[in-house]
Amino acid sequence: RGLRAENRVLRGLVLGASEEVFSFNSPIMREMENMAVRVARTNSTVLITGESGTGKGVVARLIHQKSLRADGPFIPVNCGAIPENLVESEFFGHTRGSFTGADKARKGLFQEADGGTIFLDEIGELPLALQVKLLHVIEHKEVRPVGSEQTRSVDVRIVAATNRDLREMVIQGKFREDLFFRLSVFHIHMPPLRERRQDISALIEFLLRRGMLRNGGNSERKILLGSGVGELLVNYAWPGNVREMENVLDRALILSDGVRITLADLPPQITKAAQQPRQDSIQSSGTLREQVRKYEADIILRAIEESGGDRRAAAQKLDIGLSSLYRKLEEFEEQKLAPEAQYGRHETGQD
Ligand SMILES: Nc1ncnc2c1ncn2[C@@H]1O[C@H](COP(=O)(O)OP(=O)(O)OP(=O)(O)O)[C@@H](O)[C@H]1O
Ligand SMILES: [Mg+2]
Repeated sequence: RGLRAENRVLRGLVLGASEEVFSFNSPIMREMENMAVRVARTNSTVLITGESGTGKGVVARLIHQKSLRADGPFIPVNCGAIPENLVESEFFGHTRGSFTGADKARKGLFQEADGGTIFLDEIGELPLALQVKLLHVIEHKEVRPVGSEQTRSVDVRIVAATNRDLREMVIQGKFREDLFFRLSVFHIHMPPLRERRQDISALIEFLLRRGMLRNGGNSERKILLGSGVGELLVNYAWPGNVREMENVLDRALILSDGVRITLADLPPQITKAAQQPRQDSIQSSGTLREQVRKYEADIILRAIEESGGDRRAAAQKLDIGLSSLYRKLEEFEEQKLAPEAQYGRHETGQD
């Protein structure tokens, strides 16, 4: 599995933005990927919810790429960024002269997405009047350009995303209930990074490599993390999720000397957080791989502790085999990443 994941990462990096890479380590994200891939093959509308920066856009693209429409267009639309009076013509197009300033006929985003996928980001920002029209498109698979008498049929898969609570908006009368039901036929909720901390190290590694490549770097060369840096990054709370991590690492890459990222290259929100010491913090230095390894040990030891010493339960929770958990524990011991006593004390899982 490691190799396959690695291949996917490299392929994604080589292809650049054309193929989104979904990088993760946690069982919950594997579940998300499975769901996305399964729904991709259908024509079902999909609603993706989750905090800002959790990867809603990544999943939307993944659904398109894994669908039978992958060769068709993928049209992302930020519903919150279009002025209210222009949304209808942006979405459905307009005829020439249909309103002041409409000196040319325009196709509209739905017709541009014909045969492909339209990604309606920030769907919660869509004005109520447009919600009715969107529902019509979903139900009848046709659009009517502003100023036109005729409808055009369109074959478009709709994926919508929001960081707002649409159910609450329905109660407040700000979002139509019928549209909500139509959109949420298939619902994917992206958990925040703090609920899947096992993903942090994989994401750091991926985003650093992507950042280097985007800055014209060489994919073979790896950047080193200076003393304490890896520890801070894996222990930070990441309230802004992967988006925040991307910003922090891009900035660090720019500030660094190109060989090593040091503490001085990290923004204050992260270095400050470190001044309140965490009980579980690890003393880290060394290569990225060594530091990631330490973090892995920390996750596994904590899982065992949380399962009251029951290694089978811990392995299940982390979705790894029991034998691979034992193998890792042995390695950690050899590498002195964990004192034997820390996990050796509950042999049976019963006290
Ligand atoms: N699992 C992941 N693997 C790789 N990259 C990711 C992952 N999740 C997020 N990213 C990256 O993080 C950034 C933010 O992701 P995305 O735009 O999908 O989040 P979002 O939920 O739509 O949030 P926002 O509202 O901030 O746009 C993007 O650059 C994306 O490539
Ligand atoms: Mg986004």
